[in-house]
Amino acid sequence: MSAKIIDGKSVSLGIRQKIKQYVKEFTANYGFEPGLAVVLAGDDGASKVYVKNKIKGCEETGIKSFAYYLPENVSQKEIIYLINTLNGDDKVHGILVQLPLPRGIDEEEVLSHIDYKKDVDGFHAVNTGNLLLGRDTIYPCTPSGCIVLLKYEGIQIEGKHAVVVGRSNIVGKPLALMLLKENATVTICHSKTKNLKEICRSADILCAAVGRAKFITADMVSEGCAVIDIGMNRLDGKLCGDVDFDNVKEKASFITPVPGGVGPMTITMLLSNTLKAAKTQCAK
Ligand code: GUN
Repeated sequence: MSAKIIDGKSVSLGIRQKIKQYVKEFTANYGFEPGLAVVLAGDDGASKVYVKNKIKGCEETGIKSFAYYLPENVSQKEIIYLINTLNGDDKVHGILVQLPLPRGIDEEEVLSHIDYKKDVDGFHAVNTGNLLLGRDTIYPCTPSGCIVLLKYEGIQIEGKHAVVVGRSNIVGKPLALMLLKENATVTICHSKTKNLKEICRSADILCAAVGRAKFITADMVSEGCAVIDIGMNRLDGKLCGDVDFDNVKEKASFITPVPGGVGPMTITMLLSNTLKAAKTQCAK
């Protein structure tokens, strides 16, 4: 079997068209656009590209963006001061602080100051707590993108064995909870997991978020498995996922490529979260 390659770019484009329409309706209704504040501290090259693409996504869909570029030596106090100002600004419905923050800054402490209603990354303890409790909330963007792709392709989640390799707060843990919410039987694997290969081979849906290039090899995947690759690694100067794509695609039923799979969905989900946050804040 050769897998169907999931085209995240095309799915993403279709969703952005819909978001653009909903943003237009929101703006006509309220007389102002949904607003997203993006905060970038320091000079990290990859972060600059992500932020540029987030702002471009706003422009494409009619969301108003407010960009704040802070120097590498900005203090934690100054970032928190800015967050508090944005919390009180009723034209700003979403606040995104790009990670990683410069060395010496406590990211968790900084993020905890974002009003959870404006937390469009879905990283705040209130939003992660709501996710744990199975309540509707603002869901983290990358895991949301994975669920949307699975649904778009008609891949059944309910009753299936979903294996998530990786337990980060940004991807692995929330993705596992979102798959559970969709009634999958979920196993989370990590660096201390024994029998990783056997567990992965028992997956109907295998999600790789380990941050190691080509970590998931064909012998770890069973015939017909749906494989979602959330890795973003550099290998010989090229972007490469956590899955050995060329070999795994011969066994899987569906597979996301890197680039062009989950990646394009992340910013689209951020735009969707911004619209959702704006609607919640503006509802009378
Ligand atoms: N850095 C890498 N990924 C992300 C993300 O999804 N959100 C934020 N805020 N920073 C990131």
